Amino acid sequence: MGRRVQQREVRQDPLRETGRDRKSLPSGIGWTGLLTAHMRAVESRRKDRLFDDPLAVATVDLVHGTIRTDPDAALPTGPDRDSGDLTEAWYMLATYLGVRTRFYDERVLAAAAAGIRQVVIIAAGFDSRAVRLGLPVDTTVYEVDTEPVLQFKEEAMDAARLAPSGGRRPVAADLRGPWAEALTASGFDPLRPTMWLIEGLFMYLPPEDSDRLLDTVTRLSADGSRLALEYFDSTPRQDHVATVDETESAVIGRVVNFFQDGPALRPAPWLEAHGWEPDATTIADEIASHGRDIPQMFQRGRPRDHPLAGARPAALTKEGHDVSNWGADGWAVAPGKGVRVEPGGNHWLEVIVRGKEVDDALGAFVFTHDVITENPPHAHHDFMKIIYVLEGHYDFRVGDATFSGGPGTVVVVPKGSYHTFTTPTGGRALFVSSPAGNEEPFLEMGELGPQPTPEQLADLNARFHTTGLGDEEASWRQMHSEG
Ligand SMILES: C[S@@+](CC[C@H](N)C(=O)[O-])C[C@H]1O[C@@H](n2cnc3c(N)ncnc32)[C@H](O)[C@@H]1O
Repeated sequence: MGRRVQQREVRQDPLRETGRDRKSLPSGIGWTGLLTAHMRAVESRRKDRLFDDPLAVATVDLVHGTIRTDPDAALPTGPDRDSGDLTEAWYMLATYLGVRTRFYDERVLAAAAAGIRQVVIIAAGFDSRAVRLGLPVDTTVYEVDTEPVLQFKEEAMDAARLAPSGGRRPVAADLRGPWAEALTASGFDPLRPTMWLIEGLFMYLPPEDSDRLLDTVTRLSADGSRLALEYFDSTPRQDHVATVDETESAVIGRVVNFFQDGPALRPAPWLEAHGWEPDATTIADEIASHGRDIPQMFQRGRPRDHPLAGARPAALTKEGHDVSNWGADGWAVAPGKGVRVEPGGNHWLEVIVRGKEVDDALGAFVFTHDVITENPPHAHHDFMKIIYVLEGHYDFRVGDATFSGGPGTVVVVPKGSYHTFTTPTGGRALFVSSPAGNEEPFLEMGELGPQPTPEQLADLNARFHTTGLGDEEASWRQMHSEG
């Protein structure tokens, strides 16, 4: 019995026959990355190619000899000929993935031309844009994927002796976990505009995971950031693609099997709902724009793949933002009936207006303080705020200005200004930020319990675009005491 199991394992692991390490081979959905690389290699060999991808060729070479052997093998497979006439199934895959690649290439190059120097590729697989596009040397490309995929990619990069034109940082993380923390730990700066690429992923996610992923991307996106992604408006079926042999059926069946519903909304409204200005197209239109025949799979009446680009408005206030809802009924928050948050220590706050209730126009809470002698200076980069003292005595510093005062004092904190305050008496103050934003990190902090870890606080600050002074803090305080 044990012997039979062992034999089957060997048969299902053709890499072992070539002496390579099984652990480094991507499986599961990582397989789709290998298939994508294979189709990019096919495109690279065309005379009228839309790009030339040496990493894709090197990746295919690495797994060559292990393909086309077993329809169920956990390895990608490819057409018998890498150029010339392809059967419908291979033509569909090579055309879809080739044209899609070019779509994303153009978006990244446009972002670079607009001065964006930070690119994050989510579910990067064998994406080779860091080495292929000749991006400016001061660009950093972050590639997020699973450990086995990134390891295998390093082997292919080494084999092809490929080096990026700027910085390249692989980030091994599970996108279902705290990947944003891994990204920031690798040096990603959420305060700088970012070009996000999420190619070939959303069709493999359920709606709730899609929303969660885009929420995180949005939170990490400074004004002026861009993104490109795609998903299908309905799930393709195996019989949408004509196949001529078992191998083709197995490959199409495997791809179709991975499909999930993707985002619940149609592409443009979905991006808009997350605060992005959308620019949607269809893969069929993109294929036609390159003068190529549209594969049967993407002809009228079939599922449509929508490559989609988005831009985060440079202004903080969202486009079409109706802050007033003139004429709508107002509401009152009775004393003590806001959302109580206890961030730790003898302080607590009551959130009385949340951004989501007023189209993000403003956020407001009342902070009740015990005596505060130490308060690390920090700056919020997404909103300005006022602080209106209700009770007690406070000392403030905002930038180089200092103020002291009791009830009725109003202090204005401009966006991006380092500020702090202390209170020798304890007290109560109303905080109003515009646009909204100051209240949300406190609400999240309240959920973390009384003793959040430094990593959790760093993640909150990164996502809500709040920075501390770091090494400069001591000198800032020095200036404060001198002032
Ligand atoms: C279809 S491939 C696309 C790869 C790449 N964007 C491209 O176009 O070449 C999907 C990728 O998603 C990655 N992926 C899937 N689930 C993931 C997860 N939970 N965490 C990290 N990466 C994941 C896979 O490893 C794979 O590389």
